Amino acid sequence: MQASDPFSGYVSDVTFPDRFHKELSPAWLNYASVLGGARPKDLGGPFRYLDLGCGFAHSTVVNAAAFPHGQFHACDLNPAHIAAARQRAARLGVGNVVFHEASFEALLEQDLPPFDFIVMHGVYSWVDADVRRAVSQLLARRLADEGLVYVSYNCEPGWSSEAPLRKLMLELAQAARGSTESRASSAIAAMQALGNPSFRYFRDNPNVADALAALAKSPPDYVAHEFLNRAWAVHYSVDVIDQMAEAGLSYAGSATLADNHPTLLLDRQAAEAIAALPNARLRHLAEDFAVNRRFRRDVFVRDTRGTRGTRAGQPPADALRHLEGLAIGCVAEVERIDTRVTIPRGAMSFQADFITDLRASMQQGAVRIGDIVAHLGGDNRNRREILQNLLFLVASGVLSPFAQTGGYSATGPRRAASPAAAAALADSADDATTPAFVPSELLGTGLAVGAEEAAQALRWIAGEAMQPPLRLARLGVLQGT
Ligand SMILES: C[S@@+](CC[C@H](N)C(=O)[O-])C[C@H]1O[C@@H](n2cnc3c(N)ncnc32)[C@H](O)[C@@H]1O
Repeated sequence: MQASDPFSGYVSDVTFPDRFHKELSPAWLNYASVLGGARPKDLGGPFRYLDLGCGFAHSTVVNAAAFPHGQFHACDLNPAHIAAARQRAARLGVGNVVFHEASFEALLEQDLPPFDFIVMHGVYSWVDADVRRAVSQLLARRLADEGLVYVSYNCEPGWSSEAPLRKLMLELAQAARGSTESRASSAIAAMQALGNPSFRYFRDNPNVADALAALAKSPPDYVAHEFLNRAWAVHYSVDVIDQMAEAGLSYAGSATLADNHPTLLLDRQAAEAIAALPNARLRHLAEDFAVNRRFRRDVFVRDTRGTRGTRAGQPPADALRHLEGLAIGCVAEVERIDTRVTIPRGAMSFQADFITDLRASMQQGAVRIGDIVAHLGGDNRNRREILQNLLFLVASGVLSPFAQTGGYSATGPRRAASPAAAAALADSADDATTPAFVPSELLGTGLAVGAEEAAQALRWIAGEAMQPPLRLARLGVLQGT
């Protein structure tokens, strides 16, 4: 293909949408890996973090504000992405991110320190084998011992019926005129004209018709990055395990937290069929088939003591102790913790008295898992079951991993938020349509705050005689000392 052809490499004449991903927080990744048996990271001390293909680096800039003692690096070859990322960092006053306007291949040549975290979201399925090789070399050379890698990608079998739609879209876009964005819109319009039941592909694959309807509602910049790169590869999870093993990494768990708990995903028949398979590799692959998975957020660890490619393991007593040492809390209003919770395979119910006691614990802010188990474990309750319930509540999104334990009383006369939090609150208050992600050192990432709550927080900081928004005080965004 010619160099001027917009489809000759990674789409760069259109920017990717500015998105925040909670799974990229060091605290979240630490939780996912500890759940899988890895040793916890000390997030209270200095650490290094690299975001490969950072786009607007929204999550990384906010995470850097939430971990001022961490050193963050963000790399992307698109100058418009890096420029926007630098602007956000400057607006929030975040100084602990080094930006690299560079390809991964060029980054390989740079003298970089070892990283405790290397993340890539929305990259691995959208770059070709040469770029994946550069990524693998970066991981092999630049990941610290016991460092964690996050990689998300499209996986089979969930794409098996839709993959031909992408080929059709690419060919239609190549035949259209204009910018990549307008070609994406033309291709979708053309596919809609074809996507009727007289075309047997659409009739025989009803989910493809649904996918087409969803695509028609998606912004063209997203569609261009998702489908119009030269490379578009849907991977099998076990192949990614093999590729990561070449860089010395073992599978540690999933940052889609529910995926770490088969009970939340599989009915009894599927669970029994998978359990009967002869090895962990087959069970890993079969689970993708059981849930028809199409996207994975895998976490890998450089485990110098483990066997390459296999799940990192700690003795069970150590693994339990590590898990109990992690902090969890509730980012929503505590009163909204309900006895009935949505899980991937349906819903799950908890006893009313357990939920009442849990709400009271969560009012304190973030609490060690072991402390909640001990606190709720009296009155003949089974501690193992309580631990399990807490992990299920985190997996279902009712509770969240936190970076630290604690909470703040916002009662003192000196009212404050960190400069980065105050700037993000101002962004949120200015935009009634989109919540801003406000950094919280307690949470270890950004907290979605809407315009009204942000405006209240700013009035409280300015000294108005009023209560602070209690959620923001509980979650450490607002402090009265
Ligand atoms: C789909 S976007 C994801 C952006 C961001 N991680 C997110 O999820 O919001 C993929 C990003 O990878 C970058 N990219 C693709 N190939 C690259 C390469 N070889 N070197 C550096 N960056 C690359 C693109 O410019 C783009 O910003």
